[in-house]
Amino acid sequence: MRRWRTLLAVLAATVTAATMSPAPASADPVTPTVVGGTTATLGEFPFMVRLSMGCGGALYSPTLVLTAGHCVSGTGTNTSITATFGVIDLQSTSRVTRKSNYVYRAPGYNSTGDDWALIRLASAVSGTNIGTLPITTSTTYDTGNFTIAGWGAASEGGAQQRYLRKATVPFVSDTTCNSSSMYAGQVNAAREICAGFTAGGVDTCQGDSGGPMFRQGASGLVQVGIVSWGDGCARPNKPGVYTQVSYFSAAIKAAATSLGG
Ligand code: ARG
Repeated sequence: MRRWRTLLAVLAATVTAATMSPAPASADPVTPTVVGGTTATLGEFPFMVRLSMGCGGALYSPTLVLTAGHCVSGTGTNTSITATFGVIDLQSTSRVTRKSNYVYRAPGYNSTGDDWALIRLASAVSGTNIGTLPITTSTTYDTGNFTIAGWGAASEGGAQQRYLRKATVPFVSDTTCNSSSMYAGQVNAAREICAGFTAGGVDTCQGDSGGPMFRQGASGLVQVGIVSWGDGCARPNKPGVYTQVSYFSAAIKAAATSLGG
């Protein structure tokens, strides 16, 4: 079902239904953001990364960005991605950029799952308003309220945003998310986590893909999700679906180690 919708979206060149494709990068240097949110403040989320193909990401270590599998083309040498750090305003002259030199996509990635990847930077990044986001290693934080953030569309079908936006969305249980009024079994309960309001109105959207969903952990913020897909954006009964980081944390950690950090 999701694959069919993605194909339809590609054919129509209009992203209207559930899709895991990144926002078109060609439309604008700043491409589709968070719906129902507000502008973030400088330094609030120092781990937020904007990727040149039109996706978000989170700084996992000084040389690695965690993003969605559907934002990259596969595993291997890749020097074509530019990552932007340290700013809310993508056009700010104080932004810091790095080129990629390698991409690792989840070995189990396919159009319906294991939607994560690590992008290795050509050189380590650091500086003012730049910092890492730890990933959760247990399911303890897979509940409650989550923060989502990104430069993607602020409404379904809308333009990408110049300024980073943020919003809060509540956890939606697998049972509810897979119920007939929501995703009717399309969600992989172990590997994906849903978040949003039954009434809609607040959600990630095209161009937010790959960005983190996070919350307060034992000591500071921890990443619990990666923006992956949804049916449209912020529609009633259609929460956002996120890669469940707790499920993949050991694999992410092992991949990071193999990439050198
Ligand atoms: N696949 C989209 C992207 O590439 C993210 C979609 C998230 N959708 C949602 N309704 N939460 O940017």
